[in-house]
Amino acid sequence: MQQPIAVLDSGVGGLTVVKEMMRQLPREKVIYFGDTARTPYGPRPSREVLHFTREIVDYLLQFRPKMIVIACNTATAVALEDIRSRVNVPVIGVINPGARAAIKRTKTGVIGVIGTQGTINSGAYEHALKELSPHVHVISEACPAFVPLVERGNFRSNETYETVLSSLGRLRKAPMDCLILGCTHYPFLSDTIAEVMGDHVELISSAEETARDISTILHDQRKLARGDQLPVHQFFCSGDPAIFKQITLQWLGEQIELTPVVWQVP
Ligand code: SIN
Repeated sequence: MQQPIAVLDSGVGGLTVVKEMMRQLPREKVIYFGDTARTPYGPRPSREVLHFTREIVDYLLQFRPKMIVIACNTATAVALEDIRSRVNVPVIGVINPGARAAIKRTKTGVIGVIGTQGTINSGAYEHALKELSPHVHVISEACPAFVPLVERGNFRSNETYETVLSSLGRLRKAPMDCLILGCTHYPFLSDTIAEVMGDHVELISSAEETARDISTILHDQRKLARGDQLPVHQFFCSGDPAIFKQITLQWLGEQIELTPVVWQVP
């Protein structure tokens, strides 16, 4: 039997990574956990995000995954190293892949980063970008209002436009040529973010690069799935299954097998 790849997020944001995994790695089976009952993670204290991430990883380990993808920037910033030290399969996050993609694309060396309060406060993107290229100039902004919009399925509306416009006011005036969507929820709003930022700013999502990393690691370890059979993915969420199913159908374009999980919500 093929071992799955476990993917986790605070909610539906990690589906942006899953969509790219399905495109680049169609044979791989995905087990996805969206902690929709406890989203957003962004405003929560680091120790709480660490505790939730450990709890989800422990849950997902029952499926014997060959790899774990922390498809949440806030959890990556806080818990990546901790989870790596606790399990014996490869664990990847979404911050380094996003930073790498931006460095590849920028021509001016001025890069914007938007993310949750937790991600921006951690300085993880700035650190990752400067480690790759010490001379880049990084301009960061927390956009705490975006995740709740996405979790409600409100991707395009007047409210979305007004929220994006007011959140990005400072960044619109900055001379960047790339803007990292430093939260896996933000690609759901990319049409509106692109409209607000203008054509001269390229939006960078870590999804593509993360899927490429997964592919490279599995290839190197000779663990890529084989055979002609397409996998049946499994999804778990801790909150309202109806909205999760609706967003998944909209984003992935297919019906999913979903199991609600009763989780303790502090
Ligand atoms: C959140 O739960 O606040 C957003 C998840 C992320 O940072 O990607």
